[in-house]
Parts: sequence; structure tokens; C-alpha cells
Amino acid sequence: MIFNLNEFLIAVSFALDFVEMDLLGVVSNHSKRVAYMSLKMAEQLGLSKEEVFDTVSLAILHDNGASEKVLHERVKSKDKGSLLTIESTREHGILGERNIKNYPFLTSVENVIRYHHENYDGSGFFGIKGEDIPLISQIIKIADMVELNSNLKENCFDEKKKIIAFVKGHENTMFSPRIIAAFLKAANTPSFWMDLKDDFINSSLKKYVPSFSKDLPLPEIQNITRVFSRIVDSKSQYTQVHSSELSVKAARMAEYYRKPEDEVYKIMIAANLHDIGKLAVSNSILDKPDKLDDREFDLIKQHSYLTRVSLQEIKGFEEITEWASNHHEKLNGRGYPYGKQAGEIDFNSRLLACLDIYQALMEERPYREAMTHNVASEILRKLVSEGALDENIVSDILKVFAR
Ligand SMILES: [Fe+2]
Ligand SMILES: [Fe+2]
Ligand SMILES: [Fe+2]
Ligand SMILES: [Fe+2]
Repeated sequence: MIFNLNEFLIAVSFALDFVEMDLLGVVSNHSKRVAYMSLKMAEQLGLSKEEVFDTVSLAILHDNGASEKVLHERVKSKDKGSLLTIESTREHGILGERNIKNYPFLTSVENVIRYHHENYDGSGFFGIKGEDIPLISQIIKIADMVELNSNLKENCFDEKKKIIAFVKGHENTMFSPRIIAAFLKAANTPSFWMDLKDDFINSSLKKYVPSFSKDLPLPEIQNITRVFSRIVDSKSQYTQVHSSELSVKAARMAEYYRKPEDEVYKIMIAANLHDIGKLAVSNSILDKPDKLDDREFDLIKQHSYLTRVSLQEIKGFEEITEWASNHHEKLNGRGYPYGKQAGEIDFNSRLLACLDIYQALMEERPYREAMTHNVASEILRKLVSEGALDENIVSDILKVFAR
């Protein structure tokens, strides 16, 4: 399949910025702006096209480890949490580095995420100093600090003077003179500041990110999407294996139905990504031990809608998007987010919907223990009797996974 890595990255950046929605109630475009500024600096520094592309990928992914920290922060401080407090934890770099281990970068970029908060003078989390800090970490660091300490959403010109003073004021302490020079050169045009605004940041990224369309086999695309299933799963202690296990079970069922190989991989990809919209749902809801109120349910129900919004931009992902984002639709029209009717829900969407419930029941939740196959079977049969799930698929699943 011709796979456009740009398109995929931008889709992912949309999902990763959901993390901020969880924290701040709005999508702040933090990673996108960091990516844009990093890209412009990388060009100024004369990096190769491949290195520039990796810089953008890493900048988009730089805070991917932040989502699972939300929980701990909140528990500790009981405040609403902010990007700044999350960013000032050492762990989000470690977790972020771990999550992206299998991402197909074009150059060697080990430890860039791990060290994206190091200070040039060695006073950062890990005490790495000067040019021992990977160059791309240094680039992301300055973009990150600028983004966090200013408001570039609307009136970026108002912030310009302050930002330039901030950057210059941290020469040789936070940032190297070389990176500062690259930043100042990049920031020397009005377009730089315009491109950063909320209104334009998406199109700016699309326009400037070097294009890498690759003819990737589906198994390889499946591998890339596993990186994101990991990010989503690690958000909550209760879902550590949810998407990855769903993917394994989906593959098993697809093979049981003798689906062609390409379709098996597409179903696995849909399973890997089905809950990506959950990055926008607060852990205080996902991990809540008590009964959820109506509003909290509404907030949870956003997630499969957001999965669709995030995946629908990716060409070649049309079916994947459909299967992934229909996983909470029910045949009796009582599902969400669209309340689709049976006739609107295709076979693979039905399959993922049934498997998603089965998988969830077999996992522990804050309000209950993990269930056995038999107890889960009863619940699935009850849902069939209510007209919610496909009867044949449920009985096939129960047969295949009976133990
Ligand atoms: Fe960070
Ligand atoms: Fe950041
Ligand atoms: Fe879900
Ligand atoms: Fe799920």
C-alpha cells in the first residue's frame, strides 16, 4: 500500500494533541507548533531531508509519554494538571522513548525523546551536557520551551519580542549559541509567526514537511500502528494490553473467517488504533472506581468519534477508519457516536465491536475484577438477546476462545 508518512504523522499529531485536551480542555496544538519550529530550525542548521523529516516526527511525538503521567500527577497534586507540570517530569521522556522504540525513523535518532529536556549546561534531568545532547533533542528543547512559555495561538506578533528575549536570555544555560542562531534566523520572517497560529498551523505543517510516500507492505504499517496502540494502552493502568490484545484476537478471528492476508492486517491496524481517541479522555474518568455520571459518560463517548476524525485523513485507511471508529455502534441503534442501524454496520465493524467488549470484560477495571471466559460469554449472549451484537459472530468468538 502506498503509505504517506506525512499524512499519517499529521493524523497522529492530531491524536497526540488530544492529550492536551485531556489536560487543558482544549486542543492546544502544542506538538504541532513544536514540530513546525523544529522543522524550521533543522532547515537552518542544514540537516538532510531525512533528518528534517525525523526531526518533525520526533517533535510531534516528543511528549507521547505524557499521557500516562497525567494520572500520577493528578493523584499527587490533586490540581487539574497542566502541560507544564507534566513536562517537568523526568519520566515522560523515559516513557516516551520506550513507546517509540519500533517507529520507522529514517535516520538514527536514539535517545532524542529521552533527552528532550536536557539543558545545555548539564543542569537537566539526566545531566547530559553540551554537544553530548543529541542535536534533535536540542532543537526540540528550544521549540518546546518557546511554545510552553508563550501564547502563539492567536496574536503571535505580540509574543515575538518576549520570546526572542527569552531565547537570548538562556544562551549557554538552556540552549546552545548555535541553536539559538538557527531559531533567530528562522523566526526572522513574518510568515514564521503567522504559520504558528491556530488557524494556520495544520496547513503550515502539511506544506513544509518533506514528503515521504513509501510503498510499505501492510505488515510494516501494522508495526507502525502498534507504536500508537502502545501509547493508548499505557494511558491507563487498566488498559495496558487492551488494544494490543484486541489486535491479536482480531487477527485470530480474521484467520478463522479465512480473510485474505491484506484484510487480516487491516483489521489488526484498526484494532491497534480503535481507541486512539481515548487520548482525549481524562484518566480521572477512565480510572474512576465509582459509577460515572451522565456527563462523564458523554465525555467517554467522544472517543470513537475522535478516532474517526484522527484516522479519516489518511489515504488508504478508508476501511480501517470505518472499522476502528464503529466499535461502539450497536445493531439495535443504541450505540455511539452515530447510533447507526444494523444495515449501516459492516461485518468487520461488527467483529471488532464484539471482540472489543469480550477483550474489555477479560481485563480488570477500577470497579470490577477481570472476568472469566464463562462470565464474559453470558454477558455477550445477553447483548445478543438485546439485539446489540451480531449473534453468529459472538458464537464464533466464544467457540474460538473457549478454554
Ligand atoms: Fe516534554
Ligand atoms: Fe512539550
Ligand atoms: Fe472504545
Ligand atoms: Fe476498546
